[in-house]
Amino acid sequence: MSIQLSIRGMAKRYKTGEGVSDINLDVRKGELITLLGPSGCGKTTVLRSIGGFLKPDAGDILIEDRSVIALPPEKRPTSMVFQSYNLWPHMSVYDNLAFGLQIRKKPKAEIRESIADVLRLVRLPGAEKKSPAQLSGGQQQRVALARSLLLKPAVLLLDEPFSALDAKLRHEMREELREIQSQTGLTMVFVTHDQEEALSLSDRIVVMNHGRIEQIAAPQNIYNEPESLYVAQFIGKMNFLEGVVEADVIRVGELAVPNAKRLAGPAAVVAVRPEDVNLDSGIKEGLPGAVKQIMVLGHYAEVSVNLGKHGIIRSFQSKDAAQALSLGQHVRVSFAKVTSFPKE
Ligand SMILES: Nc1ncnc2c1ncn2[C@@H]1O[C@H](COP(=O)(O)OP(=O)(O)O)[C@@H](O)[C@H]1O
Ligand SMILES: [Mg+2]
Repeated sequence: MSIQLSIRGMAKRYKTGEGVSDINLDVRKGELITLLGPSGCGKTTVLRSIGGFLKPDAGDILIEDRSVIALPPEKRPTSMVFQSYNLWPHMSVYDNLAFGLQIRKKPKAEIRESIADVLRLVRLPGAEKKSPAQLSGGQQQRVALARSLLLKPAVLLLDEPFSALDAKLRHEMREELREIQSQTGLTMVFVTHDQEEALSLSDRIVVMNHGRIEQIAAPQNIYNEPESLYVAQFIGKMNFLEGVVEADVIRVGELAVPNAKRLAGPAAVVAVRPEDVNLDSGIKEGLPGAVKQIMVLGHYAEVSVNLGKHGIIRSFQSKDAAQALSLGQHVRVSFAKVTSFPKE
């Protein structure tokens, strides 16, 4: 598949010393890629550099094999959707949408038709005459998205576009964005600090940490095979236990797990997802612990077990399995799957 956007050796330092460095990323045509990381890790800096709003200190940015680094934003084949919708409040939806096309001197009939089409795509058919004030936040963001889509960018840039919306609406907008992507085949770079949003939306996720890329992979792989302790901590829920390396195994108390990465030791961190923590009241193997808390969360339950010197471990159990447990009950804890990291 062809590469639509290529960022090569990009760096940007602000006067404060903060910024991003060593950014290398190829985005395929039609791909939805997410830049994910906590606030301040450099997501917006990368996105604004792609859009031409910021000038990097080093590196190159290519779109459809052409360097865009010297071009101002309006000459780049990109379009940006912001968290704040930036609609003109005193103009109708139609006029808000028509503006960019009028500048490009498109014929009136074509503009009218494209606007009707794009409003259908963002599920606001017939909203032309409305004013932004008559629309909810979610609807305004749909108009802002429509405005970007009308410009038919080679790469659509979205900077935390849904974070001002409530949780239910955010879910809906994610699904709609995926739907729009599959209908239009647009290449998108989406920025979020919300790992759940990134996992649910992306073809691939770029995990960022302190101005650098930590891992680039599909959501499943990021979740199942985090490459660093940082990624393991940031994505999904994870338990961390201290282990002792003994050649082929890492020992956590009475439990030995494979030293799959051949860590040198002497200490290592063993990471286990709550869904991979098995609890058993019968068998003798496993770490001994006592049930500390049972929280029923709909169709599953989160059970915390006190492992004494190994700390508290969280386990996801089916509702039925959790009902069979009681507070203070002694259980044996074992792991279906673990990942290990060097101790930092
Ligand atoms: N214009 C600026 N001047 C100085 N520092 C900035 C500027 N913009 C961002 N930064 C700093 O650069 C880092 C990355 O910022 P940003 O790209 O906005 O991160 P994110 O979008 O992931 O929250 C942060 O530490 C931020 O404070
Ligand atoms: Mg930001």
